[in-house]
Amino acid sequence: MQLARLRQALTDRADQQLLRHTVCIEPLAEGRLRADGKEYLNFSGNDYLGLAAEPDVLKASEEGLRRFGLGSTGSPLVTGYHYAHQALTEALCDWLGFDQVLLFSSGFAANHAMIQTLADADDTLLLDKLSHASLIDGAQQRSGSFKRFLHNDLVSLQSIIEQLPVGKSMVVTEGVFSMDGDSPDLVAVSRLCQQAQAPLLLDDAHGLGVCGERGRGSWQQQGLEPKQLHALMANFGKALGGSGAFIAGSNTVIDYLRQFARHYIYSTALSPALCWGVLAAIRCCQADHWRRDKLQHNIASFRQWASEAELPVMTSATAIQPLLIGDTVKTVQLSQQLKSRGIWLTPIRPPTVPHGKARLRIALSSSHQPEDILFLVQSLKELY
Ligand SMILES: Cc1ncc(COP(=O)(O)O)c(C=O)c1O
Repeated sequence: MQLARLRQALTDRADQQLLRHTVCIEPLAEGRLRADGKEYLNFSGNDYLGLAAEPDVLKASEEGLRRFGLGSTGSPLVTGYHYAHQALTEALCDWLGFDQVLLFSSGFAANHAMIQTLADADDTLLLDKLSHASLIDGAQQRSGSFKRFLHNDLVSLQSIIEQLPVGKSMVVTEGVFSMDGDSPDLVAVSRLCQQAQAPLLLDDAHGLGVCGERGRGSWQQQGLEPKQLHALMANFGKALGGSGAFIAGSNTVIDYLRQFARHYIYSTALSPALCWGVLAAIRCCQADHWRRDKLQHNIASFRQWASEAELPVMTSATAIQPLLIGDTVKTVQLSQQLKSRGIWLTPIRPPTVPHGKARLRIALSSSHQPEDILFLVQSLKELY
């Protein structure tokens, strides 16, 4: 594209109040951050269990740096697969009950790889209307066709799946939707998939660590077994406080991905030191039930206080509690007003969410104290 067209696109975005900026922040303890020398209560992060700065996790990362060095120095199939990667994949298999796991540098890459590699050109992919950008991009950039079903709508999914030949579709959904915080009925989705012989691919980025027994995820919380999922993608950048991601599945699925997933083969493997830190985060996550209990308590308190304050919070039982505003300009204004009170709540605008659906996406954490949440609700009530 010519420079003039790039400039025009930037001007158009700015005119629509949709220009995005990076802000340099410094994470602080207890669900807080510092920006421009000022402290804020952080309600926009994904560190749902407060593991990003957990001392045991930091200690393990430091040890990892000393033992393995800064980077993996190669792709996993050359010299990039180290003991730390092996230990992390074994821990994930043990925790989640899948045959094998493959590590990726990000959830975006893992989702892209999962869709592009596992779907045949003559399979029709069926995606939820609110699927994450990585899933949509994966579907759009492969050669086969795809269709979108209405968000968490089983009737819509069924009506589409029934029009397709048995064994010629694949269903993709999420355990917890990132911008709405809600979940599909996974047992019912799995049943439909079985009837249509459609493999089910699940993105559980926001469910891992937070939902289910010992944090195994939303699929486990809803009673699914690993064998009911063709592949599970989840990342380390949310409740586990790190970065990177994995795909879990049967021996056949993972063996296939190892041979054919280009994002795995042609990319430098995750930093082994980071993997060592993530391993420690998994141990904390499994053992520290109090983190999930406290998060649940914070969610319940927030919902009760928000309902008493008559705030139009969307229906969600998870750490993601969106307050739908609709209008983009108003959402940005509210975010700025909250900022002046010491609350960090980044406005979520199109194209991340559909037009007319701008919102404040409140992300709760076990690091928040009840008084933080009360202050947030009181501020929202006064400003909304
Ligand atoms: C549902 C969902 N899937 C995938 C991703 C991508 O993960 P990552 O940030 O590790 O690339 C995200 C994060 O934004 C997400 O919310």
